[in-house]
Amino acid sequence: MDSRGIEKLIEDMSLEEKARQLTQINALYVKKDIEAEVTGVSAGMRLDGEDIAGIGSVLNFGDAADAAYVRQRHLKSSPRKIPLLMMQDVIHGYRTIFPVPLALGCTFDTALVEECAAVAAVEAKYNGVDVTFSPMVDLARDARWGRVVETTGEDPYLNGEMGAAFIRGYRRGGVEACVKHFAAYGAPEAGREYNTVDISEHALKEYYLRAYCRCLEEKPACVMTSFNVLNGVPVNGHTDLLVGLLRGELGYNGVVISDYGAVREMIVHGYAATEEDCARIAAGNRIDIEMMSSTYLEHLPALVRQGKISMQTVDGMVRRVLDLKLRLGLFDDPLHGTDEKKAREVCLCGEHRALARRAAERACVLLKNNGVLPLKTTASVSLIGPFARTKQILGAWACAGRAEEAVSVAEGVERLLGREVPVAEGCSAELLSRDESGFAAAVRAAAGSEVIVLCIGEPSRCAGEGASRADIALPRVQVKLLRALKETGKPVVAVVFGGRPQALTDVDGLADAVLYAWQPGTEGGNAIAALLFGAAAPSGRLAMSFPRSVGQCPIYYNALNTGRPKGEDRLDNCTYNSSYRDELNAPLYPFGYGLGYTTFSYGGLTLSSPVLRRGGTVVASVRVANTGSRGGEETVQLYIRDRFASAVRPVKELKGFTKIYLEAGEEKVVRFTVTEETLKFFTADGTYAAEAGTFDIMAGGDSAHVLSAPLVLED
Ligand code: NOJ
Repeated sequence: MDSRGIEKLIEDMSLEEKARQLTQINALYVKKDIEAEVTGVSAGMRLDGEDIAGIGSVLNFGDAADAAYVRQRHLKSSPRKIPLLMMQDVIHGYRTIFPVPLALGCTFDTALVEECAAVAAVEAKYNGVDVTFSPMVDLARDARWGRVVETTGEDPYLNGEMGAAFIRGYRRGGVEACVKHFAAYGAPEAGREYNTVDISEHALKEYYLRAYCRCLEEKPACVMTSFNVLNGVPVNGHTDLLVGLLRGELGYNGVVISDYGAVREMIVHGYAATEEDCARIAAGNRIDIEMMSSTYLEHLPALVRQGKISMQTVDGMVRRVLDLKLRLGLFDDPLHGTDEKKAREVCLCGEHRALARRAAERACVLLKNNGVLPLKTTASVSLIGPFARTKQILGAWACAGRAEEAVSVAEGVERLLGREVPVAEGCSAELLSRDESGFAAAVRAAAGSEVIVLCIGEPSRCAGEGASRADIALPRVQVKLLRALKETGKPVVAVVFGGRPQALTDVDGLADAVLYAWQPGTEGGNAIAALLFGAAAPSGRLAMSFPRSVGQCPIYYNALNTGRPKGEDRLDNCTYNSSYRDELNAPLYPFGYGLGYTTFSYGGLTLSSPVLRRGGTVVASVRVANTGSRGGEETVQLYIRDRFASAVRPVKELKGFTKIYLEAGEEKVVRFTVTEETLKFFTADGTYAAEAGTFDIMAGGDSAHVLSAPLVLED
């Protein structure tokens, strides 16, 4: 098959056949006679045998054996022998599960993320995946929203670089990417899933669109539209966004796919009155594939016959889908590498596990340490808490990952120490549990140990799609357990699991050390054990601010200053300034923050010139020294602030980062290049440009602690 063949196909296909190519259904429909019991949204799709035989793509098909069966069965029944496009949610690993994306964001290590994506893709490809529904690069500022777990955090630049790394990695491993969810899905009001998004044009361009735009440079195969209403219009009906911006200004010519059932949901939004309208609007907006609703199947042919949608539009959509199949090589090899034997060999192999462990070690963030960590391997420890023994640590979207294959904290610690340790659950992880009946046994289990490692957090299913929280403090019963253990007088190290930043004010006050483990994936327990006992040193840095209390949400470092900033952040300093009477303004732990087992000092931020001319370059150099007694890794971060601009600029914006390893006592100069490009933004008239004037160039170890030097951009 070649592009001429594609044109011939398009010429020959009936409108009904075209509508089928433009529809994605659950693979269960194709393998129906094996096991299917299709429920929920799927049940609402009215499909007949012809639809299924000619369908263009499927999702959720299981493993290599299922995938091969689905591909072959489909090819047998497909009238024109057009191969299926197989898509799946491979989000942070396929069978070997890496830390959740937000945790991967905390590595600030794009090479590592690319590697993880490549490994995920290798496992996925042999299991039949052509395109993964990843990366998700929605900007996330509100930790109540459960899907922050699937983002890489609150910074547009970091998200863009991480998204690009995911795409490159998937491609290396043989799978194409679908960037999602276009656009601004990450700003739902009140952090409530699927809720309305109402943001200014400026905020959209300046903050929310940035990472998608960066990802488009990598030419992803697909872009997924989002569920939300954006400034009054459901995204699937948003012509300015999808046609004007995505297809027009941004020149995206790949496949655009809707989210699950979202085309039809335009009715529920109160935007389209009928399914026919849904089809007309979505096709008019060049949404090439309708995922899991059947308005194209039922109405697209008639809409063309009635002249409401042009044949040219539909052919363009079909061409993009068939071109993708052609580029993937599906016509030549309809199995497309689906291979049970190879899948068995690679999935969860030693090398992949090793990478998962390394990623988890680098993703955990040490938030507090009064010196209790690292623990001595000779120390007697007890492991308490609902996350001490559980293997439910894979996180949302664990794809083909199996909890039983994960390493729990207890297993990791016992393996590392080579001996058994006392373990007790103490209480349940359930958010609303009040059951303290396990406290006494937990205190008894801890009694003989010198140090208590308390494994607490939110259950894995409380972050992810459809998993927003109104209160993001640690569940009350777990804080009580921490108090009860603290009363023993022994040091308590809290290892906190979660898919979002939680409000850890109580935990920070009580625990001697706090290690944020996120949902660390298959090798979580081994990684945590290594970090606790110093076989590895924590190096993760927060990709999202941690609030002190939920009322601070949304809280993010790259905010505007207001006309009445608070100044000194004290509770008694809150008269007629931008503050709360009952809470500080600062987050508990800021963006970019994280401790290690050594300390670093920053000195001498210098600029190669105090003036930057357009087209020129200035080098910012900062001296970083390891002032502790062991080697360690530091994440050096570059921020800028544009002091005065036609559209007000944030107090800080991340513009670069690099990780360096320094031996104890060693010192290095880190250099960042600043150009006009670094200083650009969307000005008041909407152009993307740098305005002449003074900028602060800042470098430091987190967003709250930086050195600063002024730089003047001159025309
Ligand atoms: C809905 C989610 O929003 C999206 O991210 C996912 O890829 C699709 N379902 C497919 O599972």
